Amino acid sequence: MCGIIGYVGKAEAAERLIEGLSALEYRGYDSAGISVFTKESKLLTLKAEGRLANVAAKVEACAETRGVHCGIGHTRWATHGAPSDRNSHPHGTELLQLVHNGIIENYADIKEELLNKGKTFLSDTDTEVLAVLLSENYAQMGDKLGAIKKTLSAVTGSYGIAIAFADDSTHLYCARSGSPLIVGVGEGENYVASDITALLRHTRKYYQLREGDIAVVSEDAVVITDKNGDPADLPLETADWDVQAAERGGYPHFMIKEINEESETVKKTLNTRIKNGLPDFEAEGLDINMFKDLERVHIVACGTAMYAGCVGKCRFESYARMPAHVEVASEFRYAPPLFGKGDLVIIISQSGETADSLAALRLAKECGAHTLAIVNVIGSSIAREADNVLYTWAGPEISVCSTKAYTVQAALITLLAAAAGVARGTVTEEEAARIASCLHDELPLAIEKIINNADPIKAAAKALHTTQSMFFIGRGSDTYLASEGSLKLKEITYTHSEAYAAGELKHGTISLIEQGTPVVSIANDPRMYEKMLSNIREVKARGAMIIAVCAKDAEDIIKVADHWLEVPALRSDIAGIAAATSLQLLAYYLADDRGLDVDKPRNLAKSVTVE
Ligand code: M6R
Repeated sequence: MCGIIGYVGKAEAAERLIEGLSALEYRGYDSAGISVFTKESKLLTLKAEGRLANVAAKVEACAETRGVHCGIGHTRWATHGAPSDRNSHPHGTELLQLVHNGIIENYADIKEELLNKGKTFLSDTDTEVLAVLLSENYAQMGDKLGAIKKTLSAVTGSYGIAIAFADDSTHLYCARSGSPLIVGVGEGENYVASDITALLRHTRKYYQLREGDIAVVSEDAVVITDKNGDPADLPLETADWDVQAAERGGYPHFMIKEINEESETVKKTLNTRIKNGLPDFEAEGLDINMFKDLERVHIVACGTAMYAGCVGKCRFESYARMPAHVEVASEFRYAPPLFGKGDLVIIISQSGETADSLAALRLAKECGAHTLAIVNVIGSSIAREADNVLYTWAGPEISVCSTKAYTVQAALITLLAAAAGVARGTVTEEEAARIASCLHDELPLAIEKIINNADPIKAAAKALHTTQSMFFIGRGSDTYLASEGSLKLKEITYTHSEAYAAGELKHGTISLIEQGTPVVSIANDPRMYEKMLSNIREVKARGAMIIAVCAKDAEDIIKVADHWLEVPALRSDIAGIAAATSLQLLAYYLADDRGLDVDKPRNLAKSVTVE
């Protein structure tokens, strides 16, 4: 998704902007640009479609970008108007340049009014409409803050914006509603950014703007007012993410670095939630007894976070013996709200900013449900707005493809379900202690074992080098894991794949199996081995290449398999979390083998802040 950076201080502004944008590349983008005040205090804008390197080259070639100290920059992920130089941000007029994250929903109506007044536009974007409207208001009012407020009150949708006014080369203005924005505080320099990753090289101190806040930022001051125009009393926060954590640390890609962090982050996430061997969420203010009276749980999320929710569904059902519904956030919002007071809605999100998940959270609250967020990014919108929040301590996840976030989400929700089971009397304390110890001690070891013995995974990935279409199958909770494995593969290797409940293939899809069709067959549940074995034989008989994902005691399945990705011995209800690491690695090695851009797959963004 789009990224914003703004700088005002004594350093070379253009360098700082490019550096900040480079740290934001992980969010996904298709064009980029900057505006800086030249030595003559003139606003100079340089932008280009494609990689940030294209803008960096323009900056390098332009002497006017040197010796300048204030400016704004943006990486754009196209929503309105194709990726192109002219649709890249910043947008503006002779009065100002502006960068924007989010969507102005009523831009078409405003544009029509402005066109009728004789205004002209150079791009197809909603952002330019915002910039032209702001310019018009500023021309009429001569008051920057007044013009910003008037403009923002006329638009609907979401925005995080940073503005450079042409007649003031020492201040930047910024505002947010719906899209996150922070103001970074340095020594004799200050920043605006869409997330802290952009600033970590220079500062870890920042203000997280709240909905409706407007900030005026100069080299030595930050003045923030709230939506009523009163001084906003925001705490100066300190990011505990360091540059090391946000950089690759010697790995060729963030994705493999992040997979390698899984075992550590699982322990970190569970450490403080296990007391005297038992799951314990008291310190976080979560009243686990609420599960006693609950009839069901709703789990709402998107993408990989949603598949982590499916792990939760299985465990709430098996441990706490209560129905758990997993819903895709973008659908949940528009379905009849069959929940309300007395219901629990769990929202899972790595970024805590996913627009549909945030909207689902707000809907759940409006309907009176109790909301619990499982979130990785501290202080993110979902974390702030939920009634309770459980943070996953995965640290920054930079690769677009979510890996360690999934593992910790799945482990944490499993622990939560065990705690709910104890509260409901459906799980004994002894059993809960066994679950907790398996999650905290055995799971991290199993993940390490998979990572350290990756040769069979690499070999399977090699065998898939020219594959264009394949299947993932499983039974029970492995069906959901199959979907997650298939998503990983599609996302970064651009291979078409489908995930199926293994028993369902023969009701139609098996017609697609032909000589050599790869079928990743996941079998973590010993109760299902025989059934899985039959399903595997059915596809094998039609020529499928079997990549089995199972423990070594699934001997008959291994005999039938062309490739075997071993899942270390673990309780079957937890083995799937470790098996996910094998599927992540399979996708990773295949993408790498094909020379693809592993961390920044095409068309995708890390944080999906549009609906
Ligand atoms: O930040 P979130 O966890 O809310 O993001 C949800 C999905 O967009 C995300 O998991 C997406 O599916 C990943 N790119 C998958 O690897």
